[in-house]
Amino acid sequence: MIRKITLACLFLLAFNANAQQALPIYLDDTKPMEERVEDALSKMTTKEKIAMIHAQSKFSSPGVPRLGIPENWMTDGPHGIRPEVLWDEWEQASWTNDSCIAFPALTALSATWNRDMALLYGKNLGEEARYRNKNVLLGPGVNIYRSPLNGRNFEYMGEDPFLAGEMVVPYIKGVQSNGVATCVKHFALNNQETNRHGVNVIVDDRALYEIYLPAFKAAVQEGGTWAIMGAYNKYKGQQACHNSYLLQDILRDEWEFDGVVVADWGGVHDTKEAIYNGLDIEFGTWTDGLTWGRSNAYDNYYMAAPYLELIESGEVGTKELDDKVRNILRLSFRTTMDRNRPFGSFGTDAHAKASRIIAEESIVLLKNKNSLLPLDIKKHKKIAVIGENAVKMMTVGGGSSSLKVRYEVSPLDGIKNRAGNDFEVVYARGYVGDASGDYNGVVSGQNLKDDRSEAELREEALRVAKEADIVVFVGGLNKSDFQDSEGNDRKELELPYGQNELIRDLAKANSKFVYVNISGNAVAMPWEKEVPAIVQGWFLGTEAGNAIASVLFGDVNPSGKLTFTFPVQLKDNAAHALNAFPGDDEVTYKESIFVGYRWHEKQNIKPLFPFGHGLSYTTFKYSDIKADKATVSQDETLRVSVKVKNTGKRDGAEVVQLYISDTESSLPRPIKELKGFEKIYLKAGEEKTVTFSIAKEDLSYFDDKKHQWVAEPGSFKAIIGASSQDIKGDVRFTLK
Ligand code: BGC
Repeated sequence: MIRKITLACLFLLAFNANAQQALPIYLDDTKPMEERVEDALSKMTTKEKIAMIHAQSKFSSPGVPRLGIPENWMTDGPHGIRPEVLWDEWEQASWTNDSCIAFPALTALSATWNRDMALLYGKNLGEEARYRNKNVLLGPGVNIYRSPLNGRNFEYMGEDPFLAGEMVVPYIKGVQSNGVATCVKHFALNNQETNRHGVNVIVDDRALYEIYLPAFKAAVQEGGTWAIMGAYNKYKGQQACHNSYLLQDILRDEWEFDGVVVADWGGVHDTKEAIYNGLDIEFGTWTDGLTWGRSNAYDNYYMAAPYLELIESGEVGTKELDDKVRNILRLSFRTTMDRNRPFGSFGTDAHAKASRIIAEESIVLLKNKNSLLPLDIKKHKKIAVIGENAVKMMTVGGGSSSLKVRYEVSPLDGIKNRAGNDFEVVYARGYVGDASGDYNGVVSGQNLKDDRSEAELREEALRVAKEADIVVFVGGLNKSDFQDSEGNDRKELELPYGQNELIRDLAKANSKFVYVNISGNAVAMPWEKEVPAIVQGWFLGTEAGNAIASVLFGDVNPSGKLTFTFPVQLKDNAAHALNAFPGDDEVTYKESIFVGYRWHEKQNIKPLFPFGHGLSYTTFKYSDIKADKATVSQDETLRVSVKVKNTGKRDGAEVVQLYISDTESSLPRPIKELKGFEKIYLKAGEEKTVTFSIAKEDLSYFDDKKHQWVAEPGSFKAIIGASSQDIKGDVRFTLK
């Protein structure tokens, strides 16, 4: 018996050894990637190639079963892994094991100004995607915050291209370390939701290269993203998903991107453009599956049967098809066919913990008059929590980033958890905004219906406010249509549901008033002077309430900073001042490079809260700003350093910001631009030196006539600030 088994083992070993020898090149991961790609390609039929370049279900595209090349499975999205959907529908499939951990939305992540947080985020989110067997994560989004009305700003990383670029790189590295590709979106110029499939963006080359492209370029060249998603809008009259300028000239030729271009769902409109203009995989095209009477509606996709027919009739060749398949094969080798990729994990406590740490670091203390915060047991025994957003789940809704979560801690529950028996917490709703709570079949399970009249709700809130030692009002926006939500833009900068009046009255009823703003966008705060404390709370995911409580109670010293400007009124924002948002069939970015703080500074318009702003419970003193030389040549690096000391009694973190000002230039330039930042942790009394390296790229503008970046000799200033407006000092230097 034993002999028989031994013989069988020997036979198997020999068979394996043979199999090893016979391993085709494309399966041999010791071979160079391009050799493997060419080998696999050479073994494929035209039909197999065509199958690979379009969807077979809502979120998957075929592999080549005959060759053992797996399918590609995509998933939204930027801040959590979307629930499984039915094969052909948006509707959730009602699995019982797909409830994820929600991470803070990307506006929150960017507000940490901490690259390590972006890495932690990417690594944890990638683990969730990998466990669910997705090899492409549809995110992150890095479209620039142009108007506070864009419904999808909450999914992006703010108004500054440098900051977005710095934060996207570690996110990508974190996700891709799991063998899961990021699909950075939406490339490019997708800055409004109104008529998002039809609007043609007109933008000058300087704004394109200096403002709208840098974060994508960083994603490709520094992050090494394996996929990019085309946008819905048009540019130069061509859909972005098959746009020769964006995809061929810039992405492929200038940046040498070797990954996959995935169309946004339903973003393809033309077979020939899709063939020739750089698109690799088509998703989400609507077909009725009937008119053409095909068995599979997906055969009707632009890059399916119509493409094959063009090839078979000889009207188009197969060169482009091969290029597309090459890109897709590279994706397979990097993800599904990487034998060393980890297995991932899903919905774990470790992920929830990471999500909480990121959320805590992202919260921005906007105002704290007379140090009203943190909450103090000696003064604030009885806390009135008021407002719908104190209880409303925010992970369900908002469009494709909607999630089904393992759990979500509301601000009220977070505050109660933390308060324990030491504090008394009372709640009043104050107003009814959006009582709904379902999206694509995922239900929040909350019953937020409240039939009381506005007057009754108000009366209760005022009574509760008066009887408490302090009021924490949790309001802002939510994920319903025309708020922070995909598919529509907001209609106004104002807070909805009569919150302004309510806030004013409550702050009169109790002067110890804290406003916590839940949103992914700036809102108007006409009552700002009447309110002593304001906190920007974002959409914070699974641990939202606990993170907010940590900051309110001072367990965590706030260290987030704004990544976009809060204007006082809508017309203070460039796009609105120039009547250039939203467009319908066409939109012209009339403000050119003067987006966000660049506009406010040029026009000298004081914001409500500036870009880069955020307070702490401690204080920091900046000193000794100096440069290591007074003159630099084009290939030299200038080092600028500053000492920062924590002069308060609490440990805390500060985001030290470096802005560059080109004081003499032949082209118009912003007054200053962010070109460096470091987040440093300082114990009470501790001092550290922060050093920034400034190179040619940091001094350059994009010369649209020469079509190249130019660092023009002359004088510059390196400006150190705690925000774009809180300037601590500067040094001048000359570029030779
Ligand atoms: C969105 C994308 C998303 C895709 C798939 C589209 O409507 O614009 O961001 O990834 O749907 O859900």
